[in-house]
Amino acid sequence: MWLLVLLLAAPALGLLNREPPLQASPNRQFRGIPEERWIDVRLDQFSTTNNASFPLRFYYNKLNATDKHMVLFVGGEWSVSTNWVTAGFPYDLASIIGASMFYPEQRYYGHTRPTADTEVESLRYLTTDNALRDLAQFIGYIKSDAFENGQYKSGKVVLVGCSSAGMKSTWLKQMYPHLVDVVVSHSGPLIVKENFPEYLEVVTTVMRAEGGEACTSSVKQAVNDVIAATATFEGRQLISNMFNTCTILDSNAPLDLFTLFNDAITYAFSALVQYAAPGDVAAACKELTDPSIPSAMRRMANWVNKNRPNPSKCFETRYMVTVDARRDPSYNSTEKGTRLFAYKWCTEYGWIQTTDSKAQIFNNTIPLDFNYDICKDYFTTNINQFRLQQNIARTHEFFGGLKHIPQHVISVQGTADPWHVLGPTRQQNTPTTPVYILEGSAHCRATDALNINDSEEMRKVKLQIVDNVKAFLKL
Ligand SMILES: *[C@@H]1O[C@H](CO)[C@@H](O)[C@H](O)[C@H]1NC(C)=O
Ligand SMILES: *[C@@H]1O[C@H](CO)[C@@H](O)[C@H](O)[C@H]1NC(C)=O
Ligand SMILES: *[C@@H]1O[C@H](CO)[C@@H](O)[C@H](O)[C@H]1NC(C)=O
Ligand SMILES: *[C@@H]1O[C@H](CO)[C@@H](O)[C@H](O)[C@H]1NC(C)=O
Ligand SMILES: *[C@@H]1O[C@H](CO)[C@@H](O)[C@H](O)[C@H]1NC(C)=O
Repeated sequence: MWLLVLLLAAPALGLLNREPPLQASPNRQFRGIPEERWIDVRLDQFSTTNNASFPLRFYYNKLNATDKHMVLFVGGEWSVSTNWVTAGFPYDLASIIGASMFYPEQRYYGHTRPTADTEVESLRYLTTDNALRDLAQFIGYIKSDAFENGQYKSGKVVLVGCSSAGMKSTWLKQMYPHLVDVVVSHSGPLIVKENFPEYLEVVTTVMRAEGGEACTSSVKQAVNDVIAATATFEGRQLISNMFNTCTILDSNAPLDLFTLFNDAITYAFSALVQYAAPGDVAAACKELTDPSIPSAMRRMANWVNKNRPNPSKCFETRYMVTVDARRDPSYNSTEKGTRLFAYKWCTEYGWIQTTDSKAQIFNNTIPLDFNYDICKDYFTTNINQFRLQQNIARTHEFFGGLKHIPQHVISVQGTADPWHVLGPTRQQNTPTTPVYILEGSAHCRATDALNINDSEEMRKVKLQIVDNVKAFLKL
């Protein structure tokens, strides 16, 4: 078994903005030849007078010359690649139902660049509504005579999405039911909300379940010790040494301590839990409670240092320096992913992973207000709490949260995934909208290929999904 983890070039504010890690069997025979292709889509999908367009990238793998159905692995806040058209559960599903694989990129990510830069003005087309219509246009295109001489014209369309792409897939079926036959949404949230303290609550619960009280109390101790140490110059020096920060923390800059927590410490724990394979959390807890290192803070620092992006570089805690990098409007900026994701949550999604819950171990290090500093400092003062709250209400008006799951949407949730809190539950489970709950499973684990090493529960769920898809497509 191999695990391909694509690390971000830079720390992330959210954890959705990387391609889902792919786990595939090493001996699988790849069929077809993955191709990179492009389609022109409208820049402003809502204008009847402005027909400007831009090229949207997609990967395509024709698995069999006789295929007529289509499985789309929907792109999210990341760069697409050949990975998911050559392996993974969507690929297995395509093989079983006689479909070819498609992997369309989301506008602004990867090489799909609708504008010259990512200045605030240029980001106005970065909306979920536009992204949904891009997918609608894409499906119209691959089902037309213009694509492969109409090979897929009468075929069925199955969307598979992980995370926010699962959410988009569900919403696409809701808005354009004639374009989509079946959706498989893995770990797709359907609720957008401003403050999301439940995220770190689940991180804490999972660490306690997998590593015991010793693990959570050690991390809690370490966090509180870091905070206490900021009170003196010696303490700040110690933090700097332990966490390899580029400069010593500034006692007059609360946003710098926030940066240490948001971008390094809670980031590392969130990434651990969200993407955990079985055994990962227990292994981390073993290091976090290693009795040969008496200081809880040092144990945590050692582990965090190893697990942050670019561990060989010093860690930048100066908030204003990170702001400068993330204001860079070039598509080539290494901070582009973080900038774009920040824009999405500042304007549409919220999902701010604060420390506002009492049932978590990261003290009060990530308050809501600091996140609005990010919205203002990366973009403009017009991108603020009021605008976010308005847009969240608008999204719920359009899609209804959990109140309406369109038929033939299959949802899969893992109870150890912090995002499951915002997705469908057993209450939404009906014969035409099945909801599978995987106990103790992390984010999007069921998107991995069918594998001999799958737990019995995992295998059962994957095979049930295949059966559901076949039944809904009447195959
Ligand atoms: C199953 O797990 C074993 C032990 O970790 C590993 O050696 C083997 O390659 C795995 N098999 C597959 C098909 O992934
Ligand atoms: C936009 O419309 C004009 C005619 O008004 C046409 O000449 C042009 O080809 C169209 N562009 C695209 C990208 O469809
Ligand atoms: C392609 O599909 C046809 C018809 O379903 C099947 O007979 C054939 O074995 C498939 N070829 C490959 C290489 O899977
Ligand atoms: C946060 O850390 C400080 C400093 O160590 C400590 O005094 C306080 O009790 C902690 N608060 C919580 C909620 O753990
Ligand atoms: C970004 O990088 C590409 C390829 O490396 C280059 O062609 C392009 O000019 C760069 N764009 C900017 C705005 O720097």
